[in-house]
Amino acid sequence: MRGPRGEPPPPRDLDRWRRAGRIGAAARELGESLLVPGASRLEVAEAVETYIRREGALPAFPANLSIDEEAAHFTPPPGDSRRFAKGELVKLDVGAHLDGAISDTATTVEVGGGGRHAALRQASRSALEAASALLRPGVGTRELSDAIERAIRSQGYRPVENLSGHTIEEYLLHAGTSIPNASGFSSRELRSGEVVAIEPFATGGGGAVGNGPFGNILRFREAPDPERAPELSELYGRFRTLPFCLRWIDDEALRARVLRERKRLQTYPVFVEVRGGYVSQAERTFLLTEEGCEVLTP
Ligand code: CO
Repeated sequence: MRGPRGEPPPPRDLDRWRRAGRIGAAARELGESLLVPGASRLEVAEAVETYIRREGALPAFPANLSIDEEAAHFTPPPGDSRRFAKGELVKLDVGAHLDGAISDTATTVEVGGGGRHAALRQASRSALEAASALLRPGVGTRELSDAIERAIRSQGYRPVENLSGHTIEEYLLHAGTSIPNASGFSSRELRSGEVVAIEPFATGGGGAVGNGPFGNILRFREAPDPERAPELSELYGRFRTLPFCLRWIDDEALRARVLRERKRLQTYPVFVEVRGGYVSQAERTFLLTEEGCEVLTP
C-alpha cells in the first residue's frame, strides 16, 4: 500500500482537507453512537457511509468494523446479518474524501459499556495523545513511534508492531511514509504541509497481526485497460486507487466480475492479532503546520 517515494506535493486547497476531516470525524461519532447491543453490523456501516455521502463527500474507504482480536480491515459483506453483542470490542475506522482530499479516523467501542476493556482502550488513546503532542515540522517518525510504544507499554500492553500510521496524499490513503507503532524502524523528518494519520493499536496479545480471511475490501493498484475491461474501467473512474467493497456495487454481474478479477486488484485480508489478543485502536488525521499541527478529524 505504499505510494511513490520522494517529495510529496503539499496539499492544495487546505479547506477541502479540513472539510473532509470534519465530515470523517462526525461520521466516526455517529458510528460510535450506533454501536449498541443488537445493532446490525451492516446497518452501522451503511449509516456511516450514507452520512458521509449526505454531507457531500464520499467514503475514502469502506467503514471498517473489526471485532475483538480483529485489528482492522473488515467491512460487512453484502447481506451481512451479524449483530453486535454486549462486551464486544469494536474498532470503527472511517474516512471521507472530497475530490481525493482524504481523512482517516478511528475509535474503539466496548459494545454496551461495562468497562472490561477500559484500560486497553485508554492505552491506544494515550499513545495517540503522546504522539500528537510531538507532532511538528522536523519531528522524526522514530520519535513518534517511540512515544507510542512507551505510552502503550507503560500501561501494561503491547503495541501492534506491524501496523503503522501513514502520510496521506491526494487519492493515496497510504502514501510514502509510515509511522510504525513500535521503535526500531527507519526514521524520516516530517515537513510542514504534510497530512499524517497516526493510529496506535494496543493489545494484550502477542503484539503483531497476521492475515486472516478476506475482509471484503479491495483496491485498484492501477487503472484497468479500458479496451479489455470497460466495466472495470468505469468502476476505476468511481474509486480510483482508494479502497472499495462489493456493497458499493449494485449490479450483481459486475460484483461477480470484480471477484473474478480480484487477482489483478489488491484484496485486503482482515488483520488478526497473532495470539488472539483483544486489540484497541485510536486514530486521527493531522496537518503539519509551521507552528505545530492541526487536528483535521477532531
Ligand atoms: Co489510517
